[in-house]
Amino acid sequence: MSELIPEIARWASIRRYEQRSIPNDVLKRILDAARCAPSWSNVQPWHFIAVRDKTIKSKLRQLAVGQRFVETADTVIVCCGDRSAWSREQRIRQMKALSEALGQSFDEERVKRSLNDPAYNPLLRGEEVLIARLYEQISLAIAFMILQARHEGVGSCIVGAFANEVTAINRELYDEVRLDLGIPKDMTILTLVTLGYPAEDPKPRPRKPFDEVVSLERYANFFND
Ligand SMILES: Cc1cc2nc3c(=O)[nH]c(=O)nc-3n(C[C@H](O)[C@H](O)[C@H](O)COP(=O)(O)O)c2cc1C
Repeated sequence: MSELIPEIARWASIRRYEQRSIPNDVLKRILDAARCAPSWSNVQPWHFIAVRDKTIKSKLRQLAVGQRFVETADTVIVCCGDRSAWSREQRIRQMKALSEALGQSFDEERVKRSLNDPAYNPLLRGEEVLIARLYEQISLAIAFMILQARHEGVGSCIVGAFANEVTAINRELYDEVRLDLGIPKDMTILTLVTLGYPAEDPKPRPRKPFDEVVSLERYANFFND
């Protein structure tokens, strides 16, 4: 099989970190990779807060059902999904900016049509669909982020076991952390990503065999070369 880029071929989540802190320029490149990720209609429904403060990291650890590495990581990225990203105002503003950037004329009617089409606007399908779409979008940004981190020699781990509106556990502390971080009401903390220089070198965890998860033309028809 063709060579994968090393960041993918040697991928492993890192949960033990050196004390050494990540310089700002490195951290900014990691976050910039997330910013550059693709999203549905280029909506970019996200915001990332880099947290180094010990007190907040300790609270985040509690929200992450006590997972120790959340506190010991140099930096925790609090990945927020923007529930208002598909709102009429935001979409129109964004599409205007996009037309301008591409030197195209702005077709307001087209934008309005898309706002009324569930294929383009998850808000029309209710809260659960909106949240599912936000997780979908943030995952792509996180994938870009963790690969850039690995490229920079920085280890990371995604933390999905977390108290928020979705898991509905530990609401009091969740609201307190939201307040601490000044998170606006339309933003939901979806996921954390811990970052730090690796103090472990774990063996990559096995993945399902290629033919179990990939087919050619139809299900379970294998690539034979
Ligand atoms: C959406 C998501 C949520 C995750 N949440 C956690 C978590 O809460 N705690 C944890 O230790 N690892 C978490 N992980 C990491 C996975 O356990 C890990 O990626 C998987 O076991 C494969 O191991 P690897 O990343 O080292 O290849 C999460 C991964 C993903 C993609």
